[in-house]
Amino acid sequence: MKWFCVASVLAASLLHVGRTTGDDKAEIVFADFEGSDYGMWQTSGTAFGSGPAKGTLAGQMPVSGFLGQGLVNSFLGGDGPTGKLTSPEFTIERKFVGFLIGGGGYEKQTCMNLLVDGKVVRDATGPNTQGGGSEQLEPAAWDVSDLLGKTARIEIVDDATGGWGHVNVDQIVFTDRRPVGLVKRQSRELVAEKRFLLFPVRTGAAKRNVKLSVDGRAERQFEIELADRDAEWWAPLDVGAWKGKKLVVEVDKLAEDSQALAALKQGDDAVPPGEAYREALRPQLHFSPRRGWLNDPNGLAFYQGQYHVFFQHNPYGWAWGNMHWGHAVGRDLVHWREIGEALYPDSLGPMFSGSAVVDWNNTSGFGRDGKPPLVLFYTAAGNPTVQCLAYSNDGGKTFTKYAHNPVVEQFTPGNRDPKVIWHEPSRRWVMVLYVESPDKKHLIDFLTSSDLKQWTLASQTEGFFECPDLFELPLDGNAGRKKWVLTAASSEYQVGTFDGERFTPETPKLPGHRGRGFYAAQTFSDIPAADGRRIQVGWLQAPSPGMPFNQCLSVPLKLDLVTTPDGPRLTWSPVKELEQLRTGRQVFPAGALEPGQSKKVALQSELLDIAAVIEPAKAAEVVLDVRGVALAYDAAKQELTVNGQRAPAPLVDGKLDLRILVDRTVLEVFANGGLVYVPMPAIVPADNRNFSVSAKGGAARLEKLELHALSSIWE
Ligand code: FRU
Repeated sequence: MKWFCVASVLAASLLHVGRTTGDDKAEIVFADFEGSDYGMWQTSGTAFGSGPAKGTLAGQMPVSGFLGQGLVNSFLGGDGPTGKLTSPEFTIERKFVGFLIGGGGYEKQTCMNLLVDGKVVRDATGPNTQGGGSEQLEPAAWDVSDLLGKTARIEIVDDATGGWGHVNVDQIVFTDRRPVGLVKRQSRELVAEKRFLLFPVRTGAAKRNVKLSVDGRAERQFEIELADRDAEWWAPLDVGAWKGKKLVVEVDKLAEDSQALAALKQGDDAVPPGEAYREALRPQLHFSPRRGWLNDPNGLAFYQGQYHVFFQHNPYGWAWGNMHWGHAVGRDLVHWREIGEALYPDSLGPMFSGSAVVDWNNTSGFGRDGKPPLVLFYTAAGNPTVQCLAYSNDGGKTFTKYAHNPVVEQFTPGNRDPKVIWHEPSRRWVMVLYVESPDKKHLIDFLTSSDLKQWTLASQTEGFFECPDLFELPLDGNAGRKKWVLTAASSEYQVGTFDGERFTPETPKLPGHRGRGFYAAQTFSDIPAADGRRIQVGWLQAPSPGMPFNQCLSVPLKLDLVTTPDGPRLTWSPVKELEQLRTGRQVFPAGALEPGQSKKVALQSELLDIAAVIEPAKAAEVVLDVRGVALAYDAAKQELTVNGQRAPAPLVDGKLDLRILVDRTVLEVFANGGLVYVPMPAIVPADNRNFSVSAKGGAARLEKLELHALSSIWE
């Protein structure tokens, strides 16, 4: 391989440099691979298919860094297939060939070659030869100024069949202007003066690997879409513990003209005061992270007078990655204060989902001064993937990872999401854990422990995937008739009995929520004893495009178990605390709703809590338009449709009860006393403040229709 020059400048090595001056001719885009076929290029073998790929192929990690929609991607059919893609002949008329390349890093096997007189005169490969790695294409270039006037071809070769046995190429240009090169291992030194180091981010920029060392020790390592210039937002990294110390920030590679390292700054606030929680698509009723990505709720607990919500968090990016446990606290299940990362990735891996318990009797011995510790259980998702614990003795401000982690070794790769509960009858701890069997069955393992540190496998059950939860609920509120519920990420569940070791189902697997994007919910441990509620929070997959944060949590949901003609069923309802957000009320008078007549109101607020009881009576359909989002009830089918999603909702005494929470990126709809829960991600048009209700095919009756304006949960 010949780069124009390989220079070493301090710790930085330049991948390619060169200079041009004056008289530059216009750039020629030789191939952008945007068409449905390869045009004049010839293919052989099968790896390249009959035309460019539209991004990521089946089974591939997400491919990024290409331009437009199409690229050459020889992962077609996986790494196995081989082949070659050869360009038509051309005359070299510019000094440089610039291109984007990714995939395997094997010389002569996963590469792009420049051929003159049938001989390879330049070549390049992708970056990857090891497991993991990245499917990101990076800019590369050849200096061909010594070949001007020659006739040449380009060939893209996939001659490798194992791991990273594919190559990705896009945007081949001929240019007189030297393409900007990448510089490896750039670093910057600073002294920690403020609480946060702020990294410039541009969502969609190339991912870089950053290492932060403090006094020569690597303390943090993560991937981040660094903004080379013009940061879209700033990702805060807490350096408060290292004030006065020397920080070195090292980036694996950066465009040579990148301003990212120079732009790094320090600040006392994670987000400038006055900016936080005011963004256009910031949910106002639902918890979302101040910056970065959120997925599963973790470690839900009530401890020393506060509710604790932890969550799967990527503090440095809009999309999933770098799993940390973010942490927020609150006193009322409504207002939350994010207080920073509770768990950082470590040598055992990223911090995947898990749960929390208060160790009231100090069975673990982690307690201090007679106070029970808060103990977190999490998956360290390295290789192997293991279950670990961490504990806090300062009210949940800081956590110490147990010195003898892991507490549960890997059963099979990918086992994860420990949910730990106290089982009073057997006076032992129980862990439910998702485990995939060697023959790919989805299992839940039940483990027991007397001290939270030593765990014994007690039993297994089949049929649930990821994020299991196990809890007891009184049937119809009758404390003498309790049942156990086993559920997992999809929110499907079974009702049955649990003897401390084995779950025995009494129902088939039942559907959970009826909407979209509600996932990986978990229930709180240790809700104040007098309270007895079972409260669940789920991840709402409600995107906030263009924002410096993404996704939110459901409102806290009260779960109950009720008897129905079909057997015991769960109900979901918003916790009563949310009613404190109600600021104003618009009431529709009860009465007939004639067909063709639409009752309308201009809303006082974008945030709504709607409570309705509707009797379809003679109407075939009753339709609500909530700020442009359609809800319809089909009386014949006894079916509710929310934003196109259908949910069976049988009438009770001829009536439908509805509760609708309306936020900026999501609605939550509850019907039928909570038997029907329809979470619905939807970006509600900001300026639409209309509400209407109408009947079709006959008269309906409104028994109750109240619209409550709500205030924001962010103070
Ligand atoms: C569910 C899940 C968990 C895992 C976590 C990683 O959404 O895949 O199984 O622990 O997300 O972020």
